[in-house]
Amino acid sequence: MPKRIAIAAIGVLATSVAMAAPDWSKVPARKVTLFYPGQAGLEWVMNVTDHSAVPDIVNKKRFCAKCHEGDASEIGDKIVAGKPVGSSKSVLEPAPIAGKAGFVPATVQIAHDDSKIYFRFEWESPKAVSSKKMDAKNEAKLTMMFDGGGTVDGAEINGCWATCHVDLRTMKNAKDEKKTKYIKGADLAADKFMDLIQWRSGKGEKPVDGYVDSERHMDGGKSLLKAEGKKEGGKWIVTFERELAAKGKGDHNIATGKVYNFGFAIHEDHAEARYHYVSLGYQFGLDKPAPDVKNYIDVQKQ
Ligand code: HEC
Repeated sequence: MPKRIAIAAIGVLATSVAMAAPDWSKVPARKVTLFYPGQAGLEWVMNVTDHSAVPDIVNKKRFCAKCHEGDASEIGDKIVAGKPVGSSKSVLEPAPIAGKAGFVPATVQIAHDDSKIYFRFEWESPKAVSSKKMDAKNEAKLTMMFDGGGTVDGAEINGCWATCHVDLRTMKNAKDEKKTKYIKGADLAADKFMDLIQWRSGKGEKPVDGYVDSERHMDGGKSLLKAEGKKEGGKWIVTFERELAAKGKGDHNIATGKVYNFGFAIHEDHAEARYHYVSLGYQFGLDKPAPDVKNYIDVQKQ
């Protein structure tokens, strides 16, 4: 059937044209302030004695960014310096690093074409102050996590907090120094997990395509095609290129019509584990405008 063959040939052409990276100057930029969370794990933020906002979060479904997009920088400044925070006046950083910045303002851009989604992050590196390099290989890392379109309980409110617990390594109630992120009630087959992609600045480091279910996995995924970063002046510019389709273990399928919950973190100054800056919870959808939702990004086709 010659007609079908011709259509198939056009299909192949279209995908190869769509392979080029987007023209970022045409993609709307969203400013997001990442802050230093210290030991403010899920159990702390969801405990009313520590955090008076819990009834609003639970009963009114208020998302973190609704209240904190404006004061994330102040929260980070207090926590990083070891000052008491929350209604319980908790010290969430028991061992402050002198001079460490409390927050990092970043710019986020997301675009897609027929087969791929592209993320671009830009931020100014804060002043290096750490005397000890926790991660000697990598000056900076950027990690992003997203669910399968409302598949992880609470992620529509808190982004990554569903994975962040007070019994993880370096956290307040740590018992096991190897314990990493996990989701309560995670189920890989039912899409109840966070897909995880990571870029690392170190020479020879490879893009990480993992996921978080009942534990954190730093491999298994096959949808991430590229994770690249460069420093221009004092600024990091990091881009990810990823297949929309789920190709491996722990990869979510990204399709039109759904709203994906995400958050991201930046490790700076050779930091490791919880000593990072984190975003509040955000959302994105493909070609699905939602101008009234403050923490939402409409990802437009390029
Ligand atoms: C309804 C508004 C509201 C929402 C939603 C909210 N918070 Fe808060 N948050 C507050 C207020 C008010 C404080 C000040 C201390 C208190 O009363 O607990 C606070 C304090 C904090 C602190 C300590 C810093 C400080 O200055 O005291 C952290 C960390 C924090 N919130 C994180 C979060 C996270 C993470 C979420 C989402 C799971 C969230 N908050 C959702 C209102 C909110």
